[in-house]
Amino acid sequence: MKKVIIDCDPGIDDAMAILLAQRSKDLEILGITTVHGNADIDHTTANTLHLKHVFAIDAPVHQGAGLPLNAVELPYPTFVHGDDGMADTGEVPGDAIADSTEAEHFIVDTIRANPHEITIIALGRLTNLARALAIAPELATLTKEVVIMGGAFGENQFRGNVSPCAEANIYGDPDAADAVCLAAWQKTFVGLDVTMLCVVDPQRQARIRHSGDAACQFIGRISEFYNSFYASIGYTAGFPMHDASAVAYAIAPELFRVRTGPVRVVTNGIAKGETILNREPAREYQEDHWSDIPAANVCVDIDAIRVLDLYEHTILGA
Ligand code: BDR
Ligand code: CA
Repeated sequence: MKKVIIDCDPGIDDAMAILLAQRSKDLEILGITTVHGNADIDHTTANTLHLKHVFAIDAPVHQGAGLPLNAVELPYPTFVHGDDGMADTGEVPGDAIADSTEAEHFIVDTIRANPHEITIIALGRLTNLARALAIAPELATLTKEVVIMGGAFGENQFRGNVSPCAEANIYGDPDAADAVCLAAWQKTFVGLDVTMLCVVDPQRQARIRHSGDAACQFIGRISEFYNSFYASIGYTAGFPMHDASAVAYAIAPELFRVRTGPVRVVTNGIAKGETILNREPAREYQEDHWSDIPAANVCVDIDAIRVLDLYEHTILGA
């Protein structure tokens, strides 16, 4: 079993991802760390603690960063995930308490204790990872792999989702994302280029919502809010499965096709949050921000049906 730390900002699609990880026979969750993003840090932590309860997860939950590295709070996408980040169902009690160790310290301690064994699956802004790296730069070589739901690389005709060029998790803390790119860990971006191809259609959503399983029913209920948002912006065939696609990559990378090369993130200006891959064989440019940057994998294609089937069958235990 692959040992994983999930860093997340639940978030409706984060909930799908966490259930997939919890029910996969190939992954062992050692801990879940929370970050600001789909809602403020108090809500994303309360939501994670609720998911731990509903999904019967043993692993601890550690609260992380409430602000990006530049300390400027951005508006939260309440129109996508609800005011509480979890579809405003009123089901999240909000009185559970996270473990007292902060996320960045949990990440550092766990990776140091399990060298070359831990995969970090990052489903939100990359602030906790950047802070962990600042404490312990050696994490980059001690971590087995980092799988990041984030980025938009211009493949498959998809653009950004918070600007024409930026994806939300990267845009929400571009300084952290660039710091993660500069570090020498094995890393893979599962960006909009492939997650937008992975659509949960109404039939699949109905099978999950009306299953006999309480955790799947919860996912089904909160997904209705998410589905309405996507319908409101013209996606009538269903909703894209962003975060669970990154978990699927950790389980079955053979369902994805990648390109490799150094990636940098634009940290300010109108292209803030853009992810730029200098694909291999990397060209050298006069103004050179890519040389000597360790290569990343960037997903450029996905076997979407098999990823969706993996998700559905795993969470339903079918
Ligand atoms: C990403 O942004 C968040 O809103 C989702 O949870 C996902 O991680 C998609 O751009
Ligand atoms: Ca997320």
